[in-house]
Amino acid sequence: MKVLVAKKLGFCFGVEHAIDMAQKLLVERKKVYCLGPLIHNSQVVERLAHQGLQVVENLEQITPAADEKDTPTVLIRSHGCRPELLQKIKAKGFQLVDATCILVKRAQKLVQELHQQGYQVIVVGDPNHPEVQGVVGYAPEVIVVNGEEDISRLPPHGRLAVISQTTHSAEDFGRLVGYIATRGYEEMKVVNTICRETARRQASAVELCRLVDVMFVLGSRHSANTGELAQLCRRKGVDTYHLQDWQEFKPQYVVGKGTAGITAGASTPGWIIQEFAENLQHF
Ligand code: F3S
Repeated sequence: MKVLVAKKLGFCFGVEHAIDMAQKLLVERKKVYCLGPLIHNSQVVERLAHQGLQVVENLEQITPAADEKDTPTVLIRSHGCRPELLQKIKAKGFQLVDATCILVKRAQKLVQELHQQGYQVIVVGDPNHPEVQGVVGYAPEVIVVNGEEDISRLPPHGRLAVISQTTHSAEDFGRLVGYIATRGYEEMKVVNTICRETARRQASAVELCRLVDVMFVLGSRHSANTGELAQLCRRKGVDTYHLQDWQEFKPQYVVGKGTAGITAGASTPGWIIQEFAENLQHF
């Protein structure tokens, strides 16, 4: 069948940087830990685990070093974390290597600055996503808005500053900002913190939706930006399947379809995309 691949898809520079950092550390040092999976892709996480990267849930699971040469290294993933955690890592005497994406760092800094300027900070995003859980730690009483139902929790008046989870869909961010504006705040400052990589992947997917009969969105079901891509394609009216890799493909997905499109989230490695595209072409 005819297969078209999105112009922009797969690994973003933030994810590539985090993986590079992990691989360098694993060559240089013995004990390297990551709090939670480094990226939302089980195949990559498994490969790094084979190279020695240990995934832990909390710092208490890390055994302190018997001597200095053995000091554990804690790698902060591209999603970032709360500032207290960075201090706790240092206080425990562990080596800290911070792979927080520069665009997530920008959002963290903005939350801090906007709060200092007297704004009530609002983050549009998923309160359960590690990036959001980290970002809200940069100022007190940050409110997370994930849908219209959360807007009733906002204060009735005051000065509001709204930012977004970096991987949120631009369409949804705009929609929720619109709803918030209807409440008539005296001042609303909106800073677009959606990352360009996410925006470009979304724009490429929308472009592709116009040309295909079916869309395959590749990536982990835990990956926020992959999920957003799949939802976006569905909203464009194209039959869309969010699959982790070729193993999840079923022939009935392409019955009666002439052209298929492929896109992938920012944590989906190139080899998964290539394998899927080749197999689909020969199907
Ligand atoms: Fe950074 Fe955007 Fe990737 S925020 S980790 S470049 S999806």
